[in-house]
Amino acid sequence: MTAALFSPMQIKGVRFKNRIGMSPMCQYSSTDGVASDWHMVHLGARAVGGVGFIMAECTAVSPTGRISQGCAGLWNDAQANALKPIVAFQHQFGAVAGIQISHSGRKGSAATALEGGSHLDADDPNGWQTVGPTAQAFDPDGTRLWKTPKALSVADIHEIQEQFVHSAKLALEVGYDLLEVHCAHGYLLHSFLTPLVNTRGDAYGGDLRARARLLLETVEKVRAVWPEDKVLSVRLSVHDFAADGLTLEDTAQVGLWLKELGVDILDCSGGGAVPEARGAIGNRTAEQPDMAGHLRAATGLPVMAVGGITDAAQADDLIASSKADIALMGREMMRDPHWAFRAAKNLSADTRHVLAEQYGFFVGAS
Ligand SMILES: Cc1cc2nc3c(=O)[nH]c(=O)nc-3n(C[C@H](O)[C@H](O)[C@H](O)COP(=O)(O)O)c2cc1C
Repeated sequence: MTAALFSPMQIKGVRFKNRIGMSPMCQYSSTDGVASDWHMVHLGARAVGGVGFIMAECTAVSPTGRISQGCAGLWNDAQANALKPIVAFQHQFGAVAGIQISHSGRKGSAATALEGGSHLDADDPNGWQTVGPTAQAFDPDGTRLWKTPKALSVADIHEIQEQFVHSAKLALEVGYDLLEVHCAHGYLLHSFLTPLVNTRGDAYGGDLRARARLLLETVEKVRAVWPEDKVLSVRLSVHDFAADGLTLEDTAQVGLWLKELGVDILDCSGGGAVPEARGAIGNRTAEQPDMAGHLRAATGLPVMAVGGITDAAQADDLIASSKADIALMGREMMRDPHWAFRAAKNLSADTRHVLAEQYGFFVGAS
């Protein structure tokens, strides 16, 4: 019997050869938002290793939508042109290519994580004025500097929405199969969705529906330019992991609204909105796959589960027990680009065509 993890899946015009995915991970290896040789190796190696779905890192819709100067961007042709051969390479080995488009909001203007991730000083020429739902800094009392953001006006909001649309059009030109809107980890769209950050008094703040307005309007505009036969995903922090924050019930409701707008799959991450919530790779990450199952049941949408997945049997069980449709891995994919091949062996699945032929011909059956 074929392991569930290695069963194919079709969403609209996109066929996933298996349910193994690489989660988006910032590489801090871009210059002016343009992908480098590193991205070809980082993303390409997982395609060679048999990963069915590969999501490029959070990619900013504008220069000030980046987290740091080293982050990826998709607002101009040079950036799109650099991504084309990478996507073509992934396609050559049968991997579905996805990209996560994002705005960093009040968490932008930082040094790269490799350099400590702190916000840059106000007079640092590599920094910029951050933005958010209000003029409240991420951690005003913390030991690390966090810039005070500018509260976005409605005109600013509309401009950023158009930047998401422009990025989506460029992603289409590059040849991506799946586009993901990043609404997690405390970045701009999530900072509007969560009551922990958004205390606005206008139409973009208030109850859950009002706080979701920025996300929903943005998704609607993006869906209008992203072809119907391609997959649209939204990454949510499905739980804020902080008192009075978003709960699973809240994000299930948001998922239903997203479904109405034509979103095809939910990517279920968590945390990141406020300092007391744990970050994307904090100590409660492993709770997320079960939460993904809850979202799947509550919305009827396919979901990607992520957080602490390392083991083949664990990933297979998520698919077999209908908790998730794709098992995403971040750090485990860093440890082993050939994880899919080893998983096939562990699950006694057919190993012959998991690796690219250049390797598989020699070691695939062994
Ligand atoms: C180096 C690194 C960079 C990350 N960058 C992103 C990102 O660009 N977008 C995002 O949504 N999550 C990002 N994450 C979170 C991962 O996608 C993933 O959700 C998280 O690592 C938990 O999965 P894991 O336990 O398999 O590592 C990053 C994680 C790491 C370790």
